Amino acid sequence: MATTAEYGLGEFAFPRGWFMVAEASELDNGPIAVRFFANDFVIYRGESGRVVMLDAYCPHMGTHLCKNTTSYIVRDGTQIQGDSIRCPYHAWRFGADGKCDDIPYAKKIPAAAAVKSYTVVERAGAIFMWHDPEDMEPDFKLPDMSEWDNEAYVRWKFDHLGTLAIHGQEVLDNMADIAHFIPVHGSTAAAYFENEYRGPVVVQRFGAGHRTLVTDGNILETDTWYTGPGILLSRMKGLYPSLMIIANTPVEDGVTKVWHALMVHSGKAVATEEDVPMGRAYQAASCQAFSQDFEIWTHKRPALQILQIPEDGPFNKGRIWYSQFFNPRSKAAAIQARVNGIALTRNQGESPEKEQRPFTSMAA
Ligand code: FES
Ligand SMILES: [Fe+2]
Repeated sequence: MATTAEYGLGEFAFPRGWFMVAEASELDNGPIAVRFFANDFVIYRGESGRVVMLDAYCPHMGTHLCKNTTSYIVRDGTQIQGDSIRCPYHAWRFGADGKCDDIPYAKKIPAAAAVKSYTVVERAGAIFMWHDPEDMEPDFKLPDMSEWDNEAYVRWKFDHLGTLAIHGQEVLDNMADIAHFIPVHGSTAAAYFENEYRGPVVVQRFGAGHRTLVTDGNILETDTWYTGPGILLSRMKGLYPSLMIIANTPVEDGVTKVWHALMVHSGKAVATEEDVPMGRAYQAASCQAFSQDFEIWTHKRPALQILQIPEDGPFNKGRIWYSQFFNPRSKAAAIQARVNGIALTRNQGESPEKEQRPFTSMAA
């Protein structure tokens, strides 16, 4: 394990960006406790349906707002009222904005009675938070995952892959890593491979045979892009068109939680229950391919320096791109200017579809 400082990424231990923090269905049975960015949070669904994310500890006496099963506040089902949550200890109640809005045994509420509240968005069956060391509004959008609302697709169910003792940097390195496809994934020589850096987005366009995901002799073509440091999406044209997500969120500095999921086109205008086993099987095959990377990451030592050769993809550019999120946003434009544009790799062809920017549709 290595930390942000050891990779020399920037001023902040944890990056700015959108990050997955839960699968939406995890909120069905009440508030949940989560830990990310070396910080404890609670997430719950208010009575309006709105998802709320707050710092976990009550400012009164430090009680964890949801790690409790025995207080009568919890047992009586009175912890969530409207979009507010009551502390299990003395029943102070906090609203979706984090401000205390009721102390049952007092008239005056001190101004300091508040916990921090975070910007969250529920999308495609997951909860995403905006994390920002500078506490500012998002400066880029959560990517579109419109296949979720396209009836032709079998929706995904997340694979919870747990935590890896590895920095998100090493996961991001995969975007530039043309040389691992043949040995790890059983690809054939690539028909094309290129990266493009565009502001907070990095794209990989790739076409090649693939032993796990295409079995009909055709090539697997993928447009894969990170929107910020935590969310990878990939539109794949293999046996079935599909959208994959790999979400990675720092838990501690150098420890990363990872989810994977895949939505698959049913080949029909409207997918039915009958298509679900096919969708699940294709997601399982995709997860198996991802697990090949996962096993490498589980056992490798950190690559603080890469012994990069010209036939490797542009790891160096990827690392510069990634550093924009670990520095004040006032520096982001200058960092982006160092890498923006298409990066080709020696001996690799250009994408024939470079005009079809996958991420232009993403800016919804
Ligand atoms: S510790 Fe939360 S109300 Fe007292
Ligand atoms: Fe890989």
